[in-house]
Amino acid sequence: MDKWPKDVGILALELYIPSLYVDQAELEDYDGVSSGKYTIGLGQQKMGFCTDREDINSLCLTVVQKLMENYNIKPQDIGRLEVGTETIIDKSKSVKTVLMQLFEPFGVTDIEGVDTTNACYGGTAALINAISWIESSYWNGRYALVVTADIAVYAKGSARPTGGAGSVAMLLGPNAPLVFDRGLRATYVKHAYDFYKPDLTSEYPVVDGKLSIQCYLSALDICYGLYKKKVVEKQNTTVNLNEFDAVIFHTPYCKLVQKSVGRLAFNDFLDNSDNYPELEKFKKVKLEESYFDRDVEKAFVQASKEAFTKKTQPSLLMAAQVGNMYTSSLYGGLVSLLINKKPSELIGNKIVLFSYGSGLAASMFSITVNNNSDSLQNIITNLNDIKTRLEQRQKIEPKKFEASLELRQETSHKAPYEPVSSIDSFFPGTYYLVKVDEMFRRFYNRVPLLTNGYS
Ligand code: ACO
Repeated sequence: MDKWPKDVGILALELYIPSLYVDQAELEDYDGVSSGKYTIGLGQQKMGFCTDREDINSLCLTVVQKLMENYNIKPQDIGRLEVGTETIIDKSKSVKTVLMQLFEPFGVTDIEGVDTTNACYGGTAALINAISWIESSYWNGRYALVVTADIAVYAKGSARPTGGAGSVAMLLGPNAPLVFDRGLRATYVKHAYDFYKPDLTSEYPVVDGKLSIQCYLSALDICYGLYKKKVVEKQNTTVNLNEFDAVIFHTPYCKLVQKSVGRLAFNDFLDNSDNYPELEKFKKVKLEESYFDRDVEKAFVQASKEAFTKKTQPSLLMAAQVGNMYTSSLYGGLVSLLINKKPSELIGNKIVLFSYGSGLAASMFSITVNNNSDSLQNIITNLNDIKTRLEQRQKIEPKKFEASLELRQETSHKAPYEPVSSIDSFFPGTYYLVKVDEMFRRFYNRVPLLTNGYS
């Protein structure tokens, strides 16, 4: 065991969100659904979106360059670069190779890793690859950089308010402030048609909404059961919701996550009903028969209300304000948690993460916050401008939002094409698409940085 580098984890974190959003209450009105459906029923406030000026490459270029600049990382410091995304614009050429434009000018081409795809899980798969590399004989002491990014758009209808967009970059290495708990990872992978993208000319998925919720909750049950089993095997102790300081979820919409905390409480109760003696009448309910059992849901959401407020709500800022960022959603949750706490409140914390991607693949794993408070403070300080950036975004009325999505749908795979949308609202340092030539080659430019940095 000693041969493994110590405290492998996250050394730096960066997040990018689009500069435009639509207000979910205004969208309810525009879509003609009952007031409160998106804001209370789904728990969503605002939804970030991209015009035809942004694509998966630009989202990744922006977040990687920003991380390198803000943390003063040199291109030669990176030995592995992985991208997790389900926003596919090329069936062969990886986004990773596009990102090499940031490294090649410095003579750096010896960087392993390409792209990984399985719905919202691709980012976690990329993360797992990067951790494996650092813990392998091929590791050469350099950092791994994991990029998660997506543009989540749905056809007009009930799924549309659960869209979003964004990218997160994570720098991994040893002696990190956010350490992955070694050996504690529970995975569940299964064949399901809950959400998939068979039409390669469209950004929209085919979705079976109800099945996707059932798949998500069943994956949560199974991963949690397996995670708990591994804790018993590794640490010779049992674990339940009470022992975690924070629980972060892949968040398609916030309400599902509140129900998921209830679900963990229900799992704990079935393992040991002493945890919730007042709910004894649910003792005979089976997990696999209760995904849509209203009585169970209500009872355990109520019983876990305090746990949700304390352990999960601080991680929902990006999910509520930007929406589902697919592969970035879980890691946007981590960013939200960090910027909502002081380092002193985080030191020693146990953070549990649940990653879900339709199709389906899911993992539960955990992070222990090291007492390396300077590095932690450095991450938090660097992320400090996010709340300001959320405020600085420009609100777009639903009609224009819809027109923008229609334009994306018509043009996202078109060549030749010159984007028409304005870049005026873009944050400094944002990469944007300039043109797609007749051979489908894409060209990008960057909004200049302010003289004092990114924003
Ligand atoms: N005020 C308050 N609450 C309301 C109101 C209102 N006026 N109207 C409806 N609601 C509630 C409903 O009761 C429901 O609550 P519940 O979840 O507790 O039952 C909630 O709002 C949603 O309403 P539904 O009618 O169930 O919504 P609908 O079926 O139209 O769509 C869905 C929801 C399925 C999530 C859809 O948005 C979708 O398909 N999204 C994409 C798939 C998805 O995100 N799946 C999750 C896992 S997979 C992934 O990450 C992509």
